[in-house]
Amino acid sequence: MNRTGNRMSVIAQKITVGILGFALFGSVLAVGYVDASRRDAERRLAEFKPKLTPELAQGRAVFEKYSCVVCHGPDGKGALPNFNAQPGGKTPGLDKVCVTYTQQELKDKIRNGVPTVERADPNGPPPPLHMPPFKDAISDGELDQLVNYLFALMPAKDKDAW
Ligand code: HEC
Repeated sequence: MNRTGNRMSVIAQKITVGILGFALFGSVLAVGYVDASRRDAERRLAEFKPKLTPELAQGRAVFEKYSCVVCHGPDGKGALPNFNAQPGGKTPGLDKVCVTYTQQELKDKIRNGVPTVERADPNGPPPPLHMPPFKDAISDGELDQLVNYLFALMPAKDKDAW
């Protein structure tokens, strides 16, 4: 190999090492983030420890079955990052629905979802998460159980103080 060829291959090697290093750094960050999110979810679930009656436990099972728990948090308090979403760039908590919705309004919301989440910055990108419609998936019985569960998320003392 001549000198130019040699130099080229050294540069190519350096670039390759650079790219690999960058990719490795990225995956270390990603694994750290996923792990931190999982630990956060476990901690929140442990703190939550609701005293569930058998009826509420059924509603909780529906909450998990349809992945509400993924977007609205293990304790229903939301706060998953949802970039450029209104309000606060996070998914909303559901622990106040008993004072902000009637049961019928809540059922309609779950059936129809929210196709377009309002943007914090109107010129920014659409938020990655939106509320899917569940009307084709969820049965009326499950919806009743789910709504009962969601209405029980707010502690009675907070309800009185509202
Ligand atoms: C893919 C993520 C995702 C899943 C799964 C999901 N939601 Fe949502 N949900 C959202 C987002 C994002 C919003 C905010 C919509 C908006 O901007 O109004 C929302 C809004 C809501 C609201 C209105 C909250 C408010 O403050 O007015 C309710 C109620 C709700 N979801 C209940 C549920 C239930 C019950 C389930 C399961 C059957 C569920 N969601 C599953 C993402 C999700």
